[in-house]
Amino acid sequence: MKSLEESTTLVEKLITYRRELHEHPELSMKEYETTRRIRKWLEEAGITILDYGLEVGVVAEITGSDTGPTIALRADIDALPIQEETGLAFSSKNEGIMHACGHDFHTAAMIGAAILLQERRDELKGKVRILFQPAEEIAQGAVLMEKAGALNEVAAIFGMHNKPDLPVGTIGVREGALMASVDRFEIEITGLGGHAGIPNNTIDPIVVAGQLISALQTIVSRNLSSFYHAVISITQVHAGNTWNVIPEKAFMEGTVRTFQNEARQLIPDLMKRTVEGIASSNGAKAELRWHSYMPVVHNAGRFSKVAAGTARILGYEAVEAEPSQAGEDFAFYQTKIPGFFVWMGVDGPKEWHHPAFTLKDEAIKVATDYFTNLAINVLNQWE
Ligand code: NI
Repeated sequence: MKSLEESTTLVEKLITYRRELHEHPELSMKEYETTRRIRKWLEEAGITILDYGLEVGVVAEITGSDTGPTIALRADIDALPIQEETGLAFSSKNEGIMHACGHDFHTAAMIGAAILLQERRDELKGKVRILFQPAEEIAQGAVLMEKAGALNEVAAIFGMHNKPDLPVGTIGVREGALMASVDRFEIEITGLGGHAGIPNNTIDPIVVAGQLISALQTIVSRNLSSFYHAVISITQVHAGNTWNVIPEKAFMEGTVRTFQNEARQLIPDLMKRTVEGIASSNGAKAELRWHSYMPVVHNAGRFSKVAAGTARILGYEAVEAEPSQAGEDFAFYQTKIPGFFVWMGVDGPKEWHHPAFTLKDEAIKVATDYFTNLAINVLNQWE
């Protein structure tokens, strides 16, 4: 099997691409320059770009010599509203914007995979579509790509997230749930304002809020099966503006994370029951507003072997991936077609979204190598 060892110039080129992306990060849905760069680099390599009418994001496709299924590789391309503090020579030139989640790395590595797959297209028993997806950080990009038709005819999808606490050359593989579902809720409590010294003539929304803060925790401890994993966090509570007035309203906001889509489906109704029940027992009214963000990243078991096997054949280490409570909009694709998402070791000093987040250049070679061969192997073993 030809490996990247023979192609150090490609690795150097990909490192340059990643640094150029890192210097010019763009926020979600504003990845215009990033899109232009990806298109340019793919076109220079003679890779076909499919037109889905996307303003941001790119879809490329490599057609093999044999007919077979179409599978997809996915990279996310957006950055975050963070002021960079890495001190790197190629630090962000865009004030207050930074590739602090390593999506520049994902993009460069998948461009590498596209280039190598194009070179090795005679070995492909089908097609490989490569999705350079915008707006992962705001959980809109995957939905947008799917609506545009980028998933049409795709039988399975593969992707990665860099993992700073894994060494370069180590790939985290896990069947089933890898990343949590992410949802947001708001609760608005309406009571009856009045004099703080005469509470009997008011309906105090702060007392309702206080009861709700405790009661909502009993959903996880008392209403959900202990085989489910879930977290309900209230992250904002606002009410009142002075010491001698009972306010009319109280507001709370927070997030729910789960590792089972079944648990995710149960929680909104349980919360609604608790919110409305406690409010009404106090004579108040309360509304729960639910904002669905991302389902669980759930890896299809049929690809576990090839995901770990590809790493080992290439001389890398495949380890059991530790799940993360963070979310990933790759999960949307997995609600439409089977998919597999892995951790790619990058040996960084800081966690995702930290202003000093960075990663090791050497990881680009590993990721490029891995996804090139994973695509070939998946198509070879397709049943
Ligand atoms: Ni990320």
